[in-house]
Amino acid sequence: MAAFHVKQQRILLIIGGGIAAYKCLDLVRRLREEGAVVRAVMTRAATEFVTPLSVAALTNERVFTDLFDLNEEREIGHIRLSREADLIIVAPATADLLAKMAGGHADDLASTVLMATDKPVLTAPAMNPRMWLHPATQRNVALLKGDGVRFVGPNTGEMAERDEAGPGRLAEVAEIIAAAHTFLSEGRPVTRLRSTHPLAGRHVLVTSGPTHEPIDPVRYIANRSSGKQGHAIAAAAARLGARVTLISGPVALADPPGAQVVRIETAEEMLAAAQRNLPADIAVFAAAVADWRTAAAPRDKMKKTGERRALELIENLDILATIGKSGDRRPPLVIGFAAETRDVAAYATKKRQEKGADWIVANDVSPDTGVLGGANNTVHLVTAEGVEDWPTMPKEDVAERLMLRAAEFLRRTTAAAE
Ligand code: CTP
Repeated sequence: MAAFHVKQQRILLIIGGGIAAYKCLDLVRRLREEGAVVRAVMTRAATEFVTPLSVAALTNERVFTDLFDLNEEREIGHIRLSREADLIIVAPATADLLAKMAGGHADDLASTVLMATDKPVLTAPAMNPRMWLHPATQRNVALLKGDGVRFVGPNTGEMAERDEAGPGRLAEVAEIIAAAHTFLSEGRPVTRLRSTHPLAGRHVLVTSGPTHEPIDPVRYIANRSSGKQGHAIAAAAARLGARVTLISGPVALADPPGAQVVRIETAEEMLAAAQRNLPADIAVFAAAVADWRTAAAPRDKMKKTGERRALELIENLDILATIGKSGDRRPPLVIGFAAETRDVAAYATKKRQEKGADWIVANDVSPDTGVLGGANNTVHLVTAEGVEDWPTMPKEDVAERLMLRAAEFLRRTTAAAE
């Protein structure tokens, strides 16, 4: 476990009304286990789902429910409530609460606190998928993001209502805590919360970016990969406490904080660097490795001759498959990517088996998705258990979620082996 010290982070939790409100009890418990001081404000609707008494018992503080309670105003008004926090978490954030926040309403304690605060605000929405996808909600989310409000989730899956599935589930408690930590650690010394370093003591190897295969000394074969997803994975793994080796092709990105970066150009160099840097607990092959290299690259620049020219290409070794089937040296968790333009899940499932990967992160890279080089990604996680569809999210969020899952996988397999 990496060294950490518990600073008393003060978190103001605003609980909205919804079926998912009960999960706040677990959130409060976990935050306090991490050493945070938690105070809660509940909307009136929230009190229909969870009693203020249970929340008070878990926070060990009184719970604030009504703006017009004069006693409360005298003891601790909404201004103090909003200022005496390092972070405000709104969970579950209902469609109504998001609309109030976006519109600047202040007609109850929760919305007034949110209007009065100058502190970072993290929201974890939870609602029916149709409400989440409604243009009004999406407009409010875009406005709030523009104001600097952060979002974690919603996740996709079954809803409490029968026959309803889609984006709208409250993010998992671990995801909310990780997002809170990330938000809090930006721009100030990191206060380490125990559960946010689940990869401490692990070595994570990541390949990222394109490879360049020389045609001659000045020309090369390349592809449109930006390296954003692989670099985000390396950054997330480092944030979660891992020692990270990032083997990167030529990219125009800054080195992720905390990762040791090995720069290579060709697929052959990438494979050699990956093998040199084993053993690893987790290997993530996010690079868009060129499938072919030229049979022979002349030492001098090729000159025009007026004639047709053919390039002879040889297939490169598959780095993922080589390491995925490397016996003793094989990392306990091997994660590959599959870039497809059609039949995404089917091809990815096949690649998982053929390349000896535990998981494949499959994405649709057709030009109209904007994935290649873009900020967002829509992925499907293919594991031995089947295919999970993840909602569209920033590549950083895909990275964090993937590394949290990987940490959990290792925790379980290590526990099972002991
Ligand atoms: N990969 C690799 N070495 C290669 C080619 C691919 O490690 N020489 C890895 C990629 O990093 C990725 C996975 O294999 O994790 C799948 O890459 P993708 O381009 O989708 O698949 P290919 O094997 O190249 O198959 P195809 O192009 O035929 O779809």
